[in-house]
Amino acid sequence: MVLMGNTTRRDFVSGLAAALGCGSLPLAWSAAQERQQSRATAAGAPARTEAEYDRMVKLALNENPYGPSEAVMKAMTDAWKYANRYGYPDGGIVEAIAGHHGVKPGNVLLGAGSAEVLKAADDAFLPDHRKVVGVQPTFETVYRYATNSNARALMVPLRKDYTVDMQEIIRVTKLNARDVGLIYICNPNNPTGRVVPKDEIRLLLDGIPEEIPVLIDEAYHHFVDNPNYEPSLKYVLEGRKVIVTRTFSKIAALAGMRLGYGIAPREMIEQMRTVTYGSSINAIVKHGGVAALKDADHDAKIKQLNKEVREQTMAELRAMGFELIPSDANFFMVNVRRDATTVGEEFRKRGILVGRKFPPMDEWLRVSVGTADDMRRFVAAFKEIVPGRAG
Ligand SMILES: Cc1ncc(COP(=O)(O)O)c(C=O)c1O
Repeated sequence: MVLMGNTTRRDFVSGLAAALGCGSLPLAWSAAQERQQSRATAAGAPARTEAEYDRMVKLALNENPYGPSEAVMKAMTDAWKYANRYGYPDGGIVEAIAGHHGVKPGNVLLGAGSAEVLKAADDAFLPDHRKVVGVQPTFETVYRYATNSNARALMVPLRKDYTVDMQEIIRVTKLNARDVGLIYICNPNNPTGRVVPKDEIRLLLDGIPEEIPVLIDEAYHHFVDNPNYEPSLKYVLEGRKVIVTRTFSKIAALAGMRLGYGIAPREMIEQMRTVTYGSSINAIVKHGGVAALKDADHDAKIKQLNKEVREQTMAELRAMGFELIPSDANFFMVNVRRDATTVGEEFRKRGILVGRKFPPMDEWLRVSVGTADDMRRFVAAFKEIVPGRAG
Protein backbone atom coordinates (compact mmCIF):
# COMPACT_ATOMS: atom_id res chain seq x y z
CA MET A 1 0.00 0.00 0.00
CA VAL A 2 1.62 3.16 -1.17
CA LEU A 3 0.45 5.22 1.75
CA MET A 4 2.85 3.21 3.87
CA GLY A 5 5.59 5.11 2.04
CA ASN A 6 3.96 8.50 2.56
CA THR A 7 2.93 8.16 6.17
CA THR A 8 4.45 7.02 9.42
CA ARG A 9 3.31 3.63 10.56
CA ARG A 10 1.56 5.11 13.60
CA ASP A 11 -0.37 7.62 11.44
CA PHE A 12 -1.28 4.82 9.13
CA VAL A 13 -2.59 2.50 11.85
CA SER A 14 -4.51 5.20 13.68
CA GLY A 15 -5.95 6.49 10.40
CA LEU A 16 -7.05 3.03 9.57
CA ALA A 17 -8.58 2.45 13.00
CA ALA A 18 -10.61 5.58 12.36
CA ALA A 19 -11.58 4.22 8.95
CA LEU A 20 -12.84 1.06 10.56
CA GLY A 21 -14.48 3.10 13.29
CA CYS A 22 -13.54 0.83 16.11
CA GLY A 23 -10.85 -0.32 18.45
CA SER A 24 -10.83 -3.75 16.82
CA LEU A 25 -7.70 -4.77 15.00
CA PRO A 26 -7.58 -2.90 11.71
CA LEU A 27 -6.52 -4.93 8.73
CA ALA A 28 -5.06 -3.45 5.61
CA TRP A 29 -2.93 -4.70 2.81
CA SER A 30 0.68 -3.75 3.45
CA ALA A 31 4.07 -4.11 1.87
CA ALA A 32 5.08 -6.43 4.72
CA GLN A 33 2.13 -8.66 3.97
CA GLU A 34 3.10 -8.63 0.32
CA ARG A 35 6.57 -9.92 1.22
CA GLN A 36 5.09 -12.53 3.53
CA GLN A 37 2.80 -13.62 0.72
CA SER A 38 5.59 -14.09 -1.77
CA ARG A 39 7.56 -16.16 0.74
CA ALA A 40 4.45 -18.15 1.46
CA THR A 41 3.95 -18.78 -2.24
CA ALA A 42 7.18 -20.76 -2.38
CA ALA A 43 5.44 -24.04 -1.51
CA GLY A 44 3.23 -23.73 -4.58
CA ALA A 45 5.90 -22.27 -6.88
CA PRO A 46 6.40 -23.89 -10.26
CA ALA A 47 8.85 -26.75 -10.47
CA ARG A 48 12.19 -26.08 -12.12
CA THR A 49 11.95 -28.34 -15.14
CA GLU A 50 9.06 -29.55 -17.26
CA ALA A 51 9.70 -33.16 -16.30
CA GLU A 52 9.75 -32.27 -12.60
CA TYR A 53 6.52 -30.30 -12.92
CA ASP A 54 4.80 -33.10 -14.82
CA ARG A 55 5.63 -35.58 -12.07
CA MET A 56 4.25 -33.37 -9.29
CA VAL A 57 0.82 -33.83 -7.75
CA LYS A 58 -0.61 -30.37 -8.24
CA LEU A 59 -2.93 -29.40 -5.39
CA ALA A 60 -1.84 -25.78 -4.98
CA LEU A 61 -3.80 -23.62 -7.40
CA ASN A 62 -7.34 -24.98 -7.58
CA GLU A 63 -6.97 -26.23 -11.11
CA ASN A 64 -9.08 -28.87 -12.79
CA PRO A 65 -7.03 -32.10 -12.83
CA TYR A 66 -9.08 -33.75 -15.58
CA GLY A 67 -8.40 -31.29 -18.41
CA PRO A 68 -10.77 -29.80 -20.98
CA SER A 69 -13.54 -31.85 -22.57
CA GLU A 70 -13.10 -33.51 -25.96
CA ALA A 71 -15.43 -30.97 -27.56
CA VAL A 72 -13.35 -28.10 -26.20
CA MET A 73 -10.10 -29.73 -27.34
CA LYS A 74 -11.53 -30.21 -30.82
CA ALA A 75 -12.73 -26.60 -31.05
CA MET A 76 -9.32 -25.35 -29.95
CA THR A 77 -7.46 -27.66 -32.31
CA ASP A 78 -9.62 -26.50 -35.22
CA ALA A 79 -8.86 -22.87 -34.33
CA TRP A 80 -5.10 -23.25 -34.79
CA LYS A 81 -5.55 -22.23 -38.40
CA TYR A 82 -6.08 -18.68 -37.10
CA ALA A 83 -2.80 -18.56 -35.22
CA ASN A 84 -1.25 -16.25 -37.81
CA ARG A 85 -4.23 -13.84 -38.06
CA TYR A 86 -5.52 -10.72 -36.29
CA GLY A 87 -8.90 -10.47 -37.98
CA TYR A 88 -10.06 -14.06 -37.45
CA PRO A 89 -13.65 -15.18 -36.74
CA ASP A 90 -13.74 -15.55 -32.96
CA GLY A 91 -16.59 -18.05 -32.77
CA GLY A 92 -18.91 -15.38 -31.35
CA ILE A 93 -17.57 -15.77 -27.82
CA VAL A 94 -19.07 -12.54 -26.45
CA GLU A 95 -22.48 -13.34 -27.94
CA ALA A 96 -22.25 -16.90 -26.63
CA ILE A 97 -21.55 -15.69 -23.07
CA ALA A 98 -24.31 -13.09 -23.31
CA GLY A 99 -26.75 -15.72 -24.60
CA HIS A 100 -25.74 -18.16 -21.88
CA HIS A 101 -26.66 -15.63 -19.20
CA GLY A 102 -29.58 -13.87 -20.90
CA VAL A 103 -27.80 -10.49 -21.10
CA LYS A 104 -26.73 -8.28 -24.01
CA PRO A 105 -23.22 -8.45 -25.50
CA GLY A 106 -22.70 -4.92 -24.13
CA ASN A 107 -22.96 -6.38 -20.62
CA VAL A 108 -19.93 -8.63 -21.14
CA LEU A 109 -16.24 -7.84 -20.73
CA LEU A 110 -13.75 -10.56 -21.67
CA GLY A 111 -10.44 -10.94 -19.91
CA ALA A 112 -7.35 -13.09 -20.25
CA GLY A 113 -8.60 -14.96 -17.21
CA SER A 114 -11.08 -13.36 -14.82
CA ALA A 115 -8.02 -11.84 -13.10
CA GLU A 116 -7.83 -9.35 -15.97
CA VAL A 117 -11.40 -8.29 -15.25
CA LEU A 118 -10.60 -7.91 -11.54
CA LYS A 119 -7.67 -5.69 -12.51
CA ALA A 120 -9.93 -3.65 -14.81
CA ALA A 121 -12.43 -3.17 -11.97
CA ASP A 122 -9.67 -1.95 -9.68
CA ASP A 123 -8.31 0.42 -12.29
CA ALA A 124 -11.75 1.74 -13.20
CA PHE A 125 -13.26 2.10 -9.73
CA LEU A 126 -10.30 2.72 -7.46
CA PRO A 127 -8.69 5.92 -8.67
CA ASP A 128 -6.44 7.88 -6.31
CA HIS A 129 -6.68 6.62 -2.78
CA ARG A 130 -10.11 5.08 -3.13
CA LYS A 131 -10.70 2.10 -0.84
CA VAL A 132 -11.65 -1.47 -1.57
CA VAL A 133 -13.61 -3.30 1.13
CA GLY A 134 -13.55 -7.08 1.47
CA VAL A 135 -12.74 -9.91 3.85
CA GLN A 136 -9.51 -11.49 4.91
CA PRO A 137 -8.52 -14.05 3.90
CA THR A 138 -9.91 -14.02 0.39
CA PHE A 139 -8.56 -14.02 -3.18
CA GLU A 140 -6.22 -11.17 -2.38
CA THR A 141 -5.27 -10.38 -5.96
CA VAL A 142 -7.91 -7.68 -5.81
CA TYR A 143 -6.13 -6.02 -2.90
CA ARG A 144 -2.79 -6.32 -4.63
CA TYR A 145 -4.09 -4.65 -7.75
CA ALA A 146 -5.66 -2.00 -5.58
CA THR A 147 -2.28 -1.44 -3.98
CA ASN A 148 -0.90 -0.69 -7.41
CA SER A 149 -3.48 2.03 -7.90
CA ASN A 150 -2.69 3.65 -4.52
CA ALA A 151 -5.93 2.42 -3.06
CA ARG A 152 -6.25 1.09 0.44
CA ALA A 153 -7.84 -2.25 1.25
CA LEU A 154 -10.10 -2.41 4.28
CA MET A 155 -10.22 -6.06 5.18
CA VAL A 156 -12.85 -7.40 7.54
CA PRO A 157 -11.85 -10.58 9.37
CA LEU A 158 -13.95 -13.68 8.83
CA ARG A 159 -16.18 -14.79 11.70
CA LYS A 160 -15.13 -17.61 14.00
CA ASP A 161 -16.82 -20.15 11.76
CA TYR A 162 -14.94 -18.73 8.73
CA THR A 163 -18.03 -17.19 7.21
CA VAL A 164 -18.20 -13.62 5.91
CA ASP A 165 -19.27 -11.01 8.48
CA MET A 166 -21.61 -9.08 6.21
CA GLN A 167 -22.91 -6.73 8.90
CA GLU A 168 -19.33 -5.64 9.53
CA ILE A 169 -18.67 -5.16 5.80
CA ILE A 170 -21.75 -2.95 5.61
CA ARG A 171 -20.70 -1.01 8.69
CA VAL A 172 -17.14 -0.39 7.45
CA THR A 173 -18.45 0.57 4.00
CA LYS A 174 -20.96 3.07 5.37
CA LEU A 175 -18.40 4.58 7.68
CA ASN A 176 -16.07 5.16 4.72
CA ALA A 177 -18.80 5.66 2.14
CA ARG A 178 -17.26 8.71 0.48
CA ASP A 179 -13.96 6.91 -0.12
CA VAL A 180 -15.02 3.36 -0.92
CA GLY A 181 -14.64 2.68 -4.64
CA LEU A 182 -15.34 -1.05 -4.67
CA ILE A 183 -16.53 -3.92 -2.51
CA TYR A 184 -15.11 -7.34 -3.32
CA ILE A 185 -16.96 -10.55 -2.39
CA CYS A 186 -15.65 -13.95 -3.43
CA ASN A 187 -18.48 -16.51 -3.56
CA PRO A 188 -17.63 -19.24 -2.68
CA ASN A 189 -14.72 -17.67 -0.88
CA ASN A 190 -11.19 -18.66 -1.75
CA PRO A 191 -9.42 -19.99 0.38
CA THR A 192 -12.16 -21.24 2.74
CA GLY A 193 -14.53 -22.76 0.16
CA ARG A 194 -17.56 -21.45 2.07
CA VAL A 195 -20.43 -19.82 0.25
CA VAL A 196 -21.81 -16.41 1.08
CA PRO A 197 -25.52 -17.14 1.58
CA LYS A 198 -27.96 -15.50 -0.83
CA ASP A 199 -29.68 -13.59 2.00
CA GLU A 200 -26.40 -11.99 2.94
CA ILE A 201 -25.67 -10.84 -0.60
CA ARG A 202 -29.11 -9.22 -0.61
CA LEU A 203 -28.40 -7.74 2.84
CA LEU A 204 -25.19 -6.20 1.50
CA LEU A 205 -26.75 -4.70 -1.59
CA ASP A 206 -29.65 -3.28 0.38
CA GLY A 207 -27.40 -2.06 3.18
CA ILE A 208 -24.83 0.05 1.31
CA PRO A 209 -25.17 3.27 -0.68
CA GLU A 210 -26.37 2.10 -4.09
CA GLU A 211 -23.70 4.00 -6.04
CA ILE A 212 -20.87 1.85 -4.61
CA PRO A 213 -19.89 -0.92 -7.05
CA VAL A 214 -19.82 -4.49 -5.75
CA LEU A 215 -17.74 -7.14 -7.50
CA ILE A 216 -18.92 -10.68 -6.86
CA ASP A 217 -16.28 -13.18 -7.93
CA GLU A 218 -17.95 -16.47 -8.86
CA ALA A 219 -14.83 -18.30 -10.09
CA TYR A 220 -15.97 -21.47 -8.26
CA HIS A 221 -19.69 -21.14 -9.02
CA HIS A 222 -19.89 -24.40 -10.96
CA PHE A 223 -18.81 -26.56 -8.02
CA VAL A 224 -21.42 -25.30 -5.57
CA ASP A 225 -24.13 -27.60 -4.27
CA ASN A 226 -25.73 -25.58 -1.52
CA PRO A 227 -29.31 -24.34 -1.19
CA ASN A 228 -28.09 -21.18 0.57
CA TYR A 229 -26.13 -20.14 -2.50
CA GLU A 230 -27.48 -18.22 -5.45
CA PRO A 231 -25.63 -16.70 -8.41
CA SER A 232 -25.69 -12.89 -8.34
CA LEU A 233 -26.43 -12.26 -12.00
CA LYS A 234 -30.00 -11.29 -11.11
CA TYR A 235 -28.69 -8.12 -9.48
CA VAL A 236 -27.00 -7.09 -12.74
CA LEU A 237 -30.33 -7.66 -14.51
CA GLU A 238 -31.98 -5.46 -11.86
CA GLY A 239 -29.55 -2.71 -12.88
CA ARG A 240 -27.63 -2.71 -9.58
CA LYS A 241 -23.99 -1.63 -9.60
CA VAL A 242 -22.83 -5.23 -9.51
CA ILE A 243 -20.10 -6.94 -11.53
CA VAL A 244 -20.17 -10.74 -11.58
CA THR A 245 -16.97 -12.45 -12.71
CA ARG A 246 -16.66 -15.99 -13.99
CA THR A 247 -13.79 -18.00 -15.40
CA PHE A 248 -13.10 -20.83 -17.81
CA SER A 249 -10.05 -21.76 -15.71
CA LYS A 250 -11.83 -24.00 -13.22
CA ILE A 251 -14.77 -26.14 -14.36
CA ALA A 252 -13.74 -25.88 -18.05
CA ALA A 253 -10.09 -26.65 -17.20
CA LEU A 254 -8.64 -23.84 -19.32
CA ALA A 255 -6.46 -22.14 -16.69
CA GLY A 256 -3.37 -22.15 -18.89
CA MET A 257 -5.30 -20.78 -21.86
CA ARG A 258 -6.57 -17.64 -20.00
CA LEU A 259 -10.22 -16.76 -20.47
CA GLY A 260 -12.66 -15.20 -18.05
CA TYR A 261 -15.31 -12.49 -18.11
CA GLY A 262 -17.30 -9.98 -16.18
CA ILE A 263 -21.02 -9.23 -16.50
CA ALA A 264 -22.27 -5.84 -15.39
CA PRO A 265 -24.50 -2.95 -16.42
CA ARG A 266 -23.32 -1.52 -19.75
CA GLU A 267 -21.90 1.74 -18.31
CA MET A 268 -19.75 -0.21 -15.85
CA ILE A 269 -18.51 -2.49 -18.63
CA GLU A 270 -17.57 0.59 -20.68
CA GLN A 271 -15.71 2.10 -17.73
CA MET A 272 -13.73 -1.13 -17.32
CA ARG A 273 -13.19 -1.56 -21.05
CA THR A 274 -11.37 1.76 -21.27
CA VAL A 275 -8.68 0.45 -18.91
CA THR A 276 -8.14 -2.94 -20.58
CA TYR A 277 -5.63 -3.67 -23.27
CA GLY A 278 -8.28 -5.00 -25.62
CA SER A 279 -6.43 -7.80 -27.38
CA SER A 280 -5.08 -9.97 -24.61
CA ILE A 281 -7.11 -13.07 -25.45
CA ASN A 282 -5.97 -15.60 -28.03
CA ALA A 283 -7.96 -17.09 -30.91
CA ILE A 284 -7.68 -20.65 -29.65
CA VAL A 285 -9.29 -20.12 -26.25
CA LYS A 286 -12.11 -18.02 -27.66
CA HIS A 287 -13.19 -21.04 -29.69
CA GLY A 288 -12.59 -23.31 -26.69
CA GLY A 289 -14.77 -21.05 -24.54
CA VAL A 290 -17.69 -21.21 -26.98
CA ALA A 291 -17.52 -25.02 -26.97
CA ALA A 292 -17.21 -25.12 -23.17
CA LEU A 293 -20.39 -23.10 -22.67
CA LYS A 294 -22.30 -25.75 -24.62
CA ASP A 295 -20.81 -28.66 -22.70
CA ALA A 296 -23.12 -28.92 -19.70
CA ASP A 297 -22.53 -32.70 -19.46
CA HIS A 298 -18.84 -32.15 -18.95
CA ASP A 299 -19.51 -29.57 -16.21
CA ALA A 300 -21.88 -31.96 -14.44
CA LYS A 301 -19.35 -34.79 -14.62
CA ILE A 302 -16.51 -32.65 -13.24
CA LYS A 303 -18.75 -31.27 -10.49
CA GLN A 304 -19.75 -34.78 -9.41
CA LEU A 305 -16.20 -36.15 -9.50
CA ASN A 306 -14.91 -33.17 -7.56
CA LYS A 307 -17.57 -33.60 -4.91
CA GLU A 308 -16.96 -37.34 -4.48
CA VAL A 309 -13.19 -37.02 -4.23
CA ARG A 310 -13.38 -33.94 -1.98
CA GLU A 311 -15.83 -35.54 0.45
CA GLN A 312 -13.87 -38.81 0.54
CA THR A 313 -10.59 -37.01 1.30
CA MET A 314 -12.17 -34.74 3.89
CA ALA A 315 -13.80 -37.73 5.60
CA GLU A 316 -10.41 -39.46 5.87
CA LEU A 317 -8.78 -36.39 7.41
CA ARG A 318 -11.71 -35.91 9.76
CA ALA A 319 -11.45 -39.55 10.83
CA MET A 320 -7.81 -38.83 11.69
CA GLY A 321 -9.02 -36.13 14.09
CA PHE A 322 -8.37 -33.00 12.05
CA GLU A 323 -10.65 -29.99 11.85
CA LEU A 324 -11.89 -29.04 8.37
CA ILE A 325 -13.98 -26.21 6.96
CA PRO A 326 -16.99 -27.42 4.94
CA SER A 327 -16.34 -26.63 1.28
CA ASP A 328 -18.46 -25.94 -1.77
CA ALA A 329 -15.49 -25.60 -4.10
CA ASN A 330 -12.69 -27.62 -5.69
CA PHE A 331 -10.47 -27.08 -2.65
CA PHE A 332 -10.79 -27.30 1.11
CA MET A 333 -8.96 -26.19 4.22
CA VAL A 334 -7.63 -28.43 6.97
CA ASN A 335 -6.21 -27.23 10.28
CA VAL A 336 -2.73 -28.77 10.48
CA ARG A 337 -1.99 -27.02 13.80
CA ARG A 338 1.46 -26.01 12.72
CA ASP A 339 2.88 -23.52 10.27
CA ALA A 340 1.24 -24.09 6.88
CA THR A 341 4.32 -22.97 4.93
CA THR A 342 6.54 -25.52 6.72
CA VAL A 343 3.98 -28.23 6.10
CA GLY A 344 3.78 -27.15 2.45
CA GLU A 345 7.53 -27.52 2.10
CA GLU A 346 7.32 -31.08 3.45
CA PHE A 347 4.69 -31.92 0.86
CA ARG A 348 6.83 -30.40 -1.85
CA LYS A 349 9.76 -32.64 -0.88
CA ARG A 350 7.42 -35.55 -1.52
CA GLY A 351 6.44 -34.25 -4.96
CA ILE A 352 3.12 -32.71 -3.90
CA LEU A 353 2.26 -29.03 -4.31
CA VAL A 354 -0.29 -27.65 -1.82
CA GLY A 355 -1.66 -24.15 -1.23
CA ARG A 356 0.37 -21.34 0.29
CA LYS A 357 -0.29 -19.82 3.68
CA PHE A 358 -3.33 -17.51 3.96
CA PRO A 359 -2.71 -15.13 6.87
CA PRO A 360 -4.12 -14.87 9.45
CA MET A 361 -5.09 -18.57 9.06
CA ASP A 362 -1.46 -19.54 9.41
CA GLU A 363 -2.06 -23.11 10.50
CA TRP A 364 -4.64 -23.97 7.90
CA LEU A 365 -3.60 -25.72 4.73
CA ARG A 366 -5.58 -25.16 1.54
CA VAL A 367 -5.67 -28.28 -0.56
CA SER A 368 -7.03 -28.37 -4.10
CA VAL A 369 -9.06 -31.43 -5.03
CA GLY A 370 -7.14 -33.56 -7.52
CA THR A 371 -8.00 -36.95 -8.98
CA ALA A 372 -8.71 -39.89 -6.66
CA ASP A 373 -5.15 -41.05 -7.23
CA ASP A 374 -3.72 -37.58 -6.45
CA MET A 375 -5.65 -37.57 -3.20
CA ARG A 376 -4.46 -41.05 -2.21
CA ARG A 377 -0.91 -39.76 -2.56
CA PHE A 378 -1.84 -36.63 -0.64
CA VAL A 379 -3.38 -38.57 2.27
CA ALA A 380 -0.39 -40.95 2.44
CA ALA A 381 2.00 -37.97 2.62
CA PHE A 382 -0.28 -36.20 5.11
CA LYS A 383 -0.02 -39.19 7.47
CA GLU A 384 3.77 -38.90 7.38
CA ILE A 385 3.96 -35.12 7.67
CA VAL A 386 1.14 -34.43 10.15
CA PRO A 387 0.81 -37.71 11.94
CA GLY A 388 -1.86 -38.81 14.37
CA ARG A 389 -4.58 -36.87 16.01
CA ALA A 390 -3.54 -33.22 16.07
CA GLY A 391 -3.47 -31.78 19.58
C1 LIG B 1 -11.50 -16.50 -6.53
C2 LIG B 1 -10.68 -16.41 -7.76
N1 LIG B 1 -10.96 -15.45 -8.64
C3 LIG B 1 -10.26 -15.31 -9.77
C4 LIG B 1 -9.23 -16.17 -10.05
C5 LIG B 1 -8.45 -15.92 -11.30
O1 LIG B 1 -8.62 -16.93 -12.19
P1 LIG B 1 -8.43 -16.73 -13.73
O2 LIG B 1 -7.67 -15.45 -13.95
O3 LIG B 1 -7.66 -17.91 -14.17
O4 LIG B 1 -9.80 -16.66 -14.30
C6 LIG B 1 -8.89 -17.19 -9.17
C7 LIG B 1 -7.78 -18.12 -9.47
O5 LIG B 1 -7.47 -19.05 -8.77
C8 LIG B 1 -9.64 -17.31 -7.98
O6 LIG B 1 -9.37 -18.24 -7.07
